[in-house]
Amino acid sequence: MSARIVCIHTPVLFDAAVQEAVDHLRRGEVVAVPTETVYGLAANALDPRAVARIFEVKGRPAHNPVIVHVASQAMVLECAAEWPPLAESLARAFWPGPLTLVLPRGPSVPDIVTAGGNTVAIRWPQHPFMQAIIRRCGFPLAAPSANLSNRLSPTTAQHVARQLGDRIPLIVDGGDCNVGIESTVVDVTGRVLCVLRPGMISGVALVAASGIDSIPAESVGAPGDSSGLNRSPGMLAKHYSPKARLLILSWSDETELEQQLLKHGVRLDHNIQILAHNHIPMSGRFAHVNVIPHDAEAFARGLYGELHRCDDTGAEWIVVEALPNTPEWHGISDRLRRAAVRE
Ligand code: TXA
Ligand code: MG
Repeated sequence: MSARIVCIHTPVLFDAAVQEAVDHLRRGEVVAVPTETVYGLAANALDPRAVARIFEVKGRPAHNPVIVHVASQAMVLECAAEWPPLAESLARAFWPGPLTLVLPRGPSVPDIVTAGGNTVAIRWPQHPFMQAIIRRCGFPLAAPSANLSNRLSPTTAQHVARQLGDRIPLIVDGGDCNVGIESTVVDVTGRVLCVLRPGMISGVALVAASGIDSIPAESVGAPGDSSGLNRSPGMLAKHYSPKARLLILSWSDETELEQQLLKHGVRLDHNIQILAHNHIPMSGRFAHVNVIPHDAEAFARGLYGELHRCDDTGAEWIVVEALPNTPEWHGISDRLRRAAVRE
């Protein structure tokens, strides 16, 4: 199989792509679609065989549940058994958008979606194409990121094509994703709000919108309760990895950078690619130096594209200049830390 890639940048192309994607989805097939965060691999969330195909295509372990994407409050209530006040406040502030809420699971959601657990992760995406296909299908869409398991998420249709192009029938090309990293995942099933996966909606923004005093530090990226029911298997340490090894370093000048590289066992004749936003190496001795914007939103938008490019151009090492430690950078820092982990 070789995926057809269809564009959506005119109204006519958009409508044709909606029709084509919906035809596949109604037949129980999977298609890759753009969302505002990263590209998703979508299937009918209420059809266990269609969802099984997602796991098969990605090589995803069955214990890692998938997010259900909706486009109406009625669909939320079809999938969730309860709608706590905390969920209402957060949905009001951030839906449609890059926020996923973990809720008590409703009876219509198949086991395979939740990995057998009693919670379900739900997101109302902002991307117009996602909204159009969910509405036209009339059923919610299960969609993890459209990459092979444990690899870097795709932010362009070309990234999807390189990893999954021979396994799926259709890739819808919506251009570059606007947010650039995966949604913030928040568990609202317990007494306290629990951030399972940080993202571009920061802890500060969540606190402001929900009216709670603060998020307990120990509940960020940690299980929501001691029973372990709210654990997020996707938060396993190694995840979101490029093929090259990745280091996060800070330096004030190039001599200091070289000393640090040597300390980490990196030979300077390796293919080393630098992603810097503040102290830019100018000597020309690295394989590639790219300047990414010193602004969290723009940085997130460009990050995965840069990591994909480093991999595609044979990087052995990717060196990222350390990021500021302020709330708007926490989601990005989380992904970089994971990308730096070797098993
Ligand atoms: O931005 C996004 O969230 C993208 C786009 C396509 O919507 N999707 C995405 O899906 O990143 P995925 O499968 O790559 O990551 C979903 C994360 C995983 O860490 C998974 O373990 C967690 O959400 N998750 C899913 N259902 C859960 C549940 N019931 N309880 C706790 N965590 C859950
Ligand atoms: Mg993923």
